[in-house]
Amino acid sequence: MKVGILGLGTVGGGVVNVLQKNSKSIKRRTGVEIELVIAGVRDISKKRICDTKKIHLTEDPFEVVNHPDIDVVLELIGGFGLAKELVEKAINNGKHIITANKALIGNHGNELIKLANKKKVRFLFEASVAGGIPIIKALEQGLSANNVESVAGIINGTGNFILTDMKEKGRDFNDVLKEAQALGYAEEDPTFDIEGIDAAHKLSILAAIAFGTEIQFDKIYTKGISNISTEDILHATELGYTIKHLGIAKRAENGIELRVHPTLVPNNKLIAQVDGVMNAVMVKSDALGTSLYYGPGAGDEATASAVIADLNDIINNQTSNHTLGWKSQQKIKVVDNNSIHSEFFLRLLVTDVKGVLAKVTGIFNDHNVSIEALIQKQVDENNNAHIAITTDKVSTKTVMSIKDKIEASEFNQADVQIIHIELLD
Ligand code: NAP
Ligand code: HSE
Repeated sequence: MKVGILGLGTVGGGVVNVLQKNSKSIKRRTGVEIELVIAGVRDISKKRICDTKKIHLTEDPFEVVNHPDIDVVLELIGGFGLAKELVEKAINNGKHIITANKALIGNHGNELIKLANKKKVRFLFEASVAGGIPIIKALEQGLSANNVESVAGIINGTGNFILTDMKEKGRDFNDVLKEAQALGYAEEDPTFDIEGIDAAHKLSILAAIAFGTEIQFDKIYTKGISNISTEDILHATELGYTIKHLGIAKRAENGIELRVHPTLVPNNKLIAQVDGVMNAVMVKSDALGTSLYYGPGAGDEATASAVIADLNDIINNQTSNHTLGWKSQQKIKVVDNNSIHSEFFLRLLVTDVKGVLAKVTGIFNDHNVSIEALIQKQVDENNNAHIAITTDKVSTKTVMSIKDKIEASEFNQADVQIIHIELLD
C-alpha cells in the first residue's frame, strides 16, 4: 500500500513514528507493507519530530495528490482552503482519503463525501473527532444495532486542559493555553479551541454518524470557554459541580438538539473526572444503554493511532464506513436553542443592601422558575456580593429573560453569567 502524506507536523510526524515503531504489529493486522512514499510540507528544511530519510519531501503539495503510485492520501495539513482543493484533486485522481481535519469536514464534508462516493474511493476521518478514541468506529460498527438517543462529551483536548489547570492549580487561562500550544494540542488558530468552533466541527460529525443526518455545523449553538472565570469555577465547585466544555447532540421531539457550551456536570459523574487533554464521549442508545469512550483527545501518536486504524480499514476493505453509508444521510431539523430546556447556573454581582436577595429571587418567581440552590458571598470592599444560583429545568428563552431583568435592575453590578447544567442521568 503506497501512501502519500500532506503535512508532517504533530499528526503527520506521529503517523510516521507509529508506522515505523509498530511496523510488525501493523503488518500482522493489515497483511501488507505500508510504504510512505512522499510527504508535502510547507518548509522542507524544518526540523521534524520523525525520521524522513526514506520519504521524498516536497514543498508542492499537488505533487503528492498527483503522484501516480499513491493509493491513499493522508490529509494532515489542516484548514479548509488549500486542504479542500488538495482533497478534491486526490479524489478525482482516484485516491482514497484519510483526514484528521474536522474543520474541512464541518465545512465541506457533505460535498466531499458525495464526490468520494461518485469516484468510488473511501473518505475516512476517525482522527477528526476526539483524537485517538475510536468513537466513529464505535458509533458506526460497535453500536450499529442501536438507535442513538444522545451523544455528549468532552471533545476538545485544549479546552479541557485549560479548564483542568484553572481548577486544579488556579493557573491563568492564557498561560495554560500557551502550554497546550507548545504540546501540539491546539489548532493553528487557537480561537477554534477556546471559542468552541473545533468542538462544533466535531459535534457535526458525531451527529451525522449517530443520527444519519447531513453535516450541519452552521446550525450548532456554539459557546466557548473564554468567559469562564475563576469565580465560576469556585462557585460551581462549592455547589458540587465541575465545569466542562461539552458537545451535546440529542434526539428531540421535533428534530435534534446540537449544542456546544461550557457545562456544569455533577462531581460524581465520570465525565467530571476527565482531566487534562483527555476526552470522553458518552453515548445513550436503546439496546446497549449508556456507554462511555475515554482517551487522549489530541497529541501526535494518539491521533496517529486513529489515522492508521483508517488505513487498516481501507486495506481490509471494511464494509462499514462513512463513505458508503452516506448516501442515506438526511437533513434532520436542528431545534432552536431558545426552546431547549435545561437546568442553569447563574452568577451575579450585586450591591449588598438589605432586601437585595428577595428582589433577585422575586425575579425568578415572576418567571415561575424554581431555584434549586443559592450561595451568597461578601467579596469586595465595594460592598458587592457574589450570588450563585442553580435552577430547575427551564427554557433558554426564560433564563435569558431573567438575565435581562437582573441586568436592568438598580442593584446589579456586572453582566450575569449563565452556564448550562447537565445532570447526565
Ligand atoms: P501542524 O503541526 O501545524 O502540522 C501541519 C503540517 O502541514 C505541517 O507539517 C506543515 O508544514 C504542513 N503544511 C501547512 N500548510 C502547508 C502548505 N500550504 N503546503 C504544504 N504543507 C503545509 O498541525 P497538526 O496539529 O498536525 O494538525 C493537522 C490536522 O490534524 C489539522 O486538521 C488538525 O485539526 C488535525 N488534528 C490535530 C490534532 C493534534 O493533536 N494536533 C489531533 C486531531 C486532529 P511545515 O511543517 O513545513 O510547516
Ligand atoms: N485542537 C484539538 C483539540 C486537536 O485540542 O482537541 C484534536 O482534535
